Amino acid sequence: RACVVNISTGSKEFDKILGGGIQTMSITEAFGEFRTGKTQIAHTLCVTSQLPLQMGGGNGKAAYIDTEGTFRPDRIREIAERFGLDSSIVMDNIIYARAYNSEHQFDLLNEVATRFAEENGVYRLLVVDSIIALFRTDFTGRGELSERQQKLNTFLARLTRISEEFNVAVFITNQIQSDPGAGLTFVADPKKPVGGNILAHASTTRLSLRKGRGEQRVAKIYDSPDLPEAEAVYAIGGGGIID
Ligand code: GTP
Ligand code: MG
Repeated sequence: RACVVNISTGSKEFDKILGGGIQTMSITEAFGEFRTGKTQIAHTLCVTSQLPLQMGGGNGKAAYIDTEGTFRPDRIREIAERFGLDSSIVMDNIIYARAYNSEHQFDLLNEVATRFAEENGVYRLLVVDSIIALFRTDFTGRGELSERQQKLNTFLARLTRISEEFNVAVFITNQIQSDPGAGLTFVADPKKPVGGNILAHASTTRLSLRKGRGEQRVAKIYDSPDLPEAEAVYAIGGGGIID
């Protein structure tokens, strides 16, 4: 049986509350307001996942499913340089796809899984940024909520399988209830993640992100059965996530 690997976020403080970084064979979910760094963490992981194990890496390639069109190759190159890696090799080691609707998101996941199987043991990271945005636009009305949750559940079950089958760390981002994308006029709990119990059950580790003082950001372990409810302060720099 393959060993679980921890992949560094780029911040030592952040890694500490995760027990060393985000883990393979599980799903880590980050949720929080806009500009809290969800996408920047995803970018940083695409690079750190390629680092050698002794540098907090996964010694593997990465796959990125982008539902919001916010992937930036230039950012990847800067992060690669920070870690002393060849930026063009790092870019070549990332398979990237933009999803345009929830059906397409499923298709891309299947393609990713096929690739993981073809190059078994080569990939260590799969990002889905964001997990739910397209489901929210495709299933809007109240009457569609149960169908949405069912589809989301199927998608998450596939992610879990992929993470275990290929020893990959799955990093997904999520919105909060007050996010403008929600289109809701009343929300019971504006800072809570969307997706309800389905996401709560699928994600092994949930991270609540918020803005701190100035450029600081704060990550908190949310509702974890095996990690303490610790907090870490991190920042976002040109080279990705830093202390
Ligand atoms: P949404 O997807 O809108 O919900 O936000 P997010 O949580 O994904 O935020 P994202 O990861 O896009 O973080 C945006 C923040 O990253 C900005 O507010 C900046 O503080 C920071 N950032 C982005 N690019 C750079 C950069 O090149 N240099 C520095 N120093 N900071 C950057
Ligand atoms: Mg984002």
